Amino acid sequence: MGVRTHALPIGMTSTNSTPTPFPSSDSAPASPAEPAVAAPALVVGATGIGGSALVEQLAAAGTPVIALSRRPGAQRDGVRWISADLRSAADLSRVLGSERPGRVYFTAWSRQATEQENIAVNGGMVRDLLAALSHAPLEHVALVTGLKHYLGPFEAYGQGAMPDTPFHEEEERLDAPNFYYAQEDELFAAARRQGFTWSVHRSHTVLGHAVGNLMNMGPDSRGIRVPLP
Ligand SMILES: NC(=O)c1ccc[n+]([C@@H]2O[C@H](COP(=O)([O-])OP(=O)(O)OC[C@H]3O[C@@H](n4cnc5c(N)ncnc54)[C@H](OP(=O)(O)O)[C@@H]3O)[C@@H](O)[C@H]2O)c1
Repeated sequence: MGVRTHALPIGMTSTNSTPTPFPSSDSAPASPAEPAVAAPALVVGATGIGGSALVEQLAAAGTPVIALSRRPGAQRDGVRWISADLRSAADLSRVLGSERPGRVYFTAWSRQATEQENIAVNGGMVRDLLAALSHAPLEHVALVTGLKHYLGPFEAYGQGAMPDTPFHEEEERLDAPNFYYAQEDELFAAARRQGFTWSVHRSHTVLGHAVGNLMNMGPDSRGIRVPLP
């Protein structure tokens, strides 16, 4: 299988502002004598299929990148890897205490046995990550979620009353527990407290390359699409 160097999220974006075109250019110099110091972008889930593409695109655009996951990814100019477990608030505070990103791209998730556990774990990861950055000059936080926002969680996917397609950004939430809603609510609460703008990117499907991620699919020797280990 060929290696793709970028991911293509197919989906819908909801935002509370008009964010700077992505990838961003960062702060302008305060005066002609003062060189610009670009605030780094923090990519969370940086070894994932979406996160690794973001790391690559931001670095290629000249934005300094802090890349966070448990395992480090490929070394490249302008990218600094940091390791933290998003399930540990203490670990996040320790690792992020001295970091000052201007933007965060949250692309991590951790699948649990039930949706209630998904909510506790994945909502908690957004909450604790943003709390650990309360000192940082955050301008914008982008959260990647997905189609289950509209069709329900794994255990109730496509069940019950469904909105008609095409789905709209302002669609009512489904009456079912959903970790994407919990992640959004943590994002919205932190945005109000910390004063940054936000966007939510509800991907349908992400095409790209990542090794060992949770939703890998690829052709087997017969050319049939199967989940990859
Ligand atoms: N892939 C798709 O086709 C697709 C489609 C629709 C929606 N989405 C949604 O898009 C979002 C991102 O998915 P993705 O497929 O890009 O993810 P992914 O490829 O599975 O990557 C997940 C990333 O999160 C990191 N991570 C997981 N648990 C962690 C922890 N406890 N601490 C630190 N880092 C952790 C992983 O790195 P380490 O394991 O090294 O820590 C990895 O970098 C999810 O909400 C997903 O539901 C994906």
